[in-house]
Order: sequence, then C-alpha cells, then structure tokens
Amino acid sequence: MIQSKLPNVGTTIFTVMSKLAADLGAINLSQGFPDFDCDPALVDAVAKHMREGRNQYAPMQGVPVLRQAIAAKFGELYGASYDPETEVTVTSGGTEAIFDAVAAVVRPGDEVIVFEPCYDSYVPAVEVNGGTAVVVSLRYPDYAVPWDEVRAAITPRTKMIALNSPHNPTATILSAADMQQLASIVDGTNLTIMSDEVYEHIIFDGARHESMARHDALRARSFIVGSFGKTYHVTGWKLGYVVAPAALTAEFRKVHQFVTFSSMTPTQYAIADFLAERRGYPELAAFYQRKRDLFLELIDGSRWRPLPSRGTYFQILDYSAITGEKDMDFALRLTREHGVASIPTSAFLYRQAPPLALRFCFAKKDDTLRAAAERLVRM
Ligand SMILES: Cc1ncc(COP(=O)(O)O)c(C=O)c1O
Repeated sequence: MIQSKLPNVGTTIFTVMSKLAADLGAINLSQGFPDFDCDPALVDAVAKHMREGRNQYAPMQGVPVLRQAIAAKFGELYGASYDPETEVTVTSGGTEAIFDAVAAVVRPGDEVIVFEPCYDSYVPAVEVNGGTAVVVSLRYPDYAVPWDEVRAAITPRTKMIALNSPHNPTATILSAADMQQLASIVDGTNLTIMSDEVYEHIIFDGARHESMARHDALRARSFIVGSFGKTYHVTGWKLGYVVAPAALTAEFRKVHQFVTFSSMTPTQYAIADFLAERRGYPELAAFYQRKRDLFLELIDGSRWRPLPSRGTYFQILDYSAITGEKDMDFALRLTREHGVASIPTSAFLYRQAPPLALRFCFAKKDDTLRAAAERLVRM
C-alpha cells in the first residue's frame, strides 16, 4: 500500500450530494452547474470547427485567437494589458489553472494562506505539492476578511495568498477597501497571489468586480484564474485560463505543459468566436441576478433566512429558525425527506464550527427553482 499524500481527502461533498439527489429523485440545488443548456449557437460553433478539421492538439498555451480574445477582454473590462503570447494560458478548467499556479510556486515546507469557507481544491493542491495551507477564517454571517489576521499569518515561509471573489460558497465579494488592505500587506514582499475569479461576470446590484487586473501592484504578482464553464453554461467542457505577468506565466506553463499539455481544440475556437463578438458575458450578471431575486421572492416569508448574495450563483440560507441540527445532518435529511439537495457549508470549513446554514445553487431553470422553493417554504 502507498502512504496517502492526501489522507484527509475523500469523495467530495458535491459528488455525494449530487448522487444522493439523483438516487432519490430530489431537486438538485447542490452542485454548482446549470440545469439548462448553453446557447445552441455555441454548440454549432464547436461542430463547425470540428467539421473544418480543428481536431488535433492545440498549442500548449492555447489557440492564438482565444488568447487574443482573453487579453482583449481584460483590456476592455479592467484596463489591463496582457500579452497573449507570454501572459495568457488556456487550461482545462479553472481547477487545472489553480493546481498549476500552486504547483509552479509551492515547494515542500512553503505556506499558502487560504480563507475558509474555502473552495475545495485549494488545500489539496497545496498539500500534494508539499506545502501547508494556513487557514484564515471568514466568519459567519458577514464573512468579512480579517486583514489583521492575514497580516499576522504571514511568515518567512509564506509564498502565496489564495483569494476568490466573487466567493464560493458565501457569495460575498472583495471591495475596493479589501484590495487596498491586500496591497498594503503584500507591498515589499515576494508573495504571489492566486486569484480565483471564475465568477467575475456574475456580480450583482451594480457592484464592480475587483479583479487583481485593475490594480497594478496586485496584478504584478497575480495568477488570475477564469473559467468558461461558468460564463457560458458549459461546465462539462472544462475550459479555463490563467493570465499572469510573463515571469509567472513562464513557470506556470512549465507545469501546465506536463499536467494536460493542452486543452480541447474545437471548444477553444468556438469560445474565441463568442468572445470576439462580446457574446454572453455582458448580460450574465443580469441573467443570474434575476434568478437570485426569483428564488428569494419564492422563499420570502418562510423560515429560511437569506444572507446577502452579491455574486456567484449561490445563496446561503440560514435555517436556525427551523432546526438546530448540524448542517451535514440537516442537508441529508432535507434531501431524503423534503426532496431538495443543498451543500452544507462545513464542506468548505477546516477550523471553525459550521453555522446553521446551507448553500443553494440557483443556476437552475425557473421551474426548478419554483419546485424547490415550494418544498422549502413548507418547512
Ligand atoms: C470558486 C471556484 N473555483 C474554481 C472552480 C472550478 O472551475 P472549473 O469547473 O472551470 O474547473 C469552481 C467550480 O465550481 C469554483 O466554484
């Protein structure tokens, strides 16, 4: 038997809850994926590129037209200039991008600061590379970043800070004031930043996405991670990217080149077509804001208490008025007895006690949200 490098990792809660929902025929608001299809024109575009023979290995760093389109989008949205040749890399989803960025930087004994609730791939990526994740807690219910604790957590071994905004699972976003705090903390250090911005286009109520790309001092040390799965309702295509200054990108590509080498060719061309025409992403925030508002309206007056959802397609609901059960127990019972699957926030926690709250995904058809809400309000 080999000695596990990840002794604490089992089957992820997302797999467990989605399977349970499928087995029981429950409404699945657990895992973060749409239950509606993508734009049919996007499928047509992939088919067209396949028929035209774009079916062999893409260049390791991604097809040029897609890298150019990604760089153009960063210029347009954040006023940031990235060189598509040396600073943009296409990956097999945000997950691969996160792993490669961590692997490019972290050596055995190094520390990476992560925030809990924490997206589940960060800590294993750090640990499998021999590093230690230093967990700073965002506390329920406002989940604000305790910047003093971040400052105190930095040691000579700290190599990276991993951030995520808009944030899964809390649906909070980093503010301009947060960015200032971050900038002052990293100033004069060699720290790198892994900025997971896969929900960059899903931000509500007119708020501005504080991409690291907007802030020169932060951009200079950041790997910014994106995902076309989230933006184009194609999570199954596993296509994402990283933008980072040339020196960081060079190291990133050394890893990427031996993890996947390159990502699926025809989907890269199809997404490049859409990006070039500015399709999809400009209207995404309004699209999901309407779904958020519908879901909240449907459960209004019930015993579920919503926390603010400022971005992503997640909504945290406090259930303390319904039961005092632990979140995992209640999530299982909610699925089994009431037919609605969710995710307990304890799945994202390492240190702190889980609050009485569950995460629901509203990237679902209106009918799905109506059916789920009907069950939730009865409780
Ligand atoms: C915060 C966060 N980062 C990264 C990812 C992974 O993105 P991808 O599906 O492109 O690998 C997800 C997917 O749920 C996510 O929620």
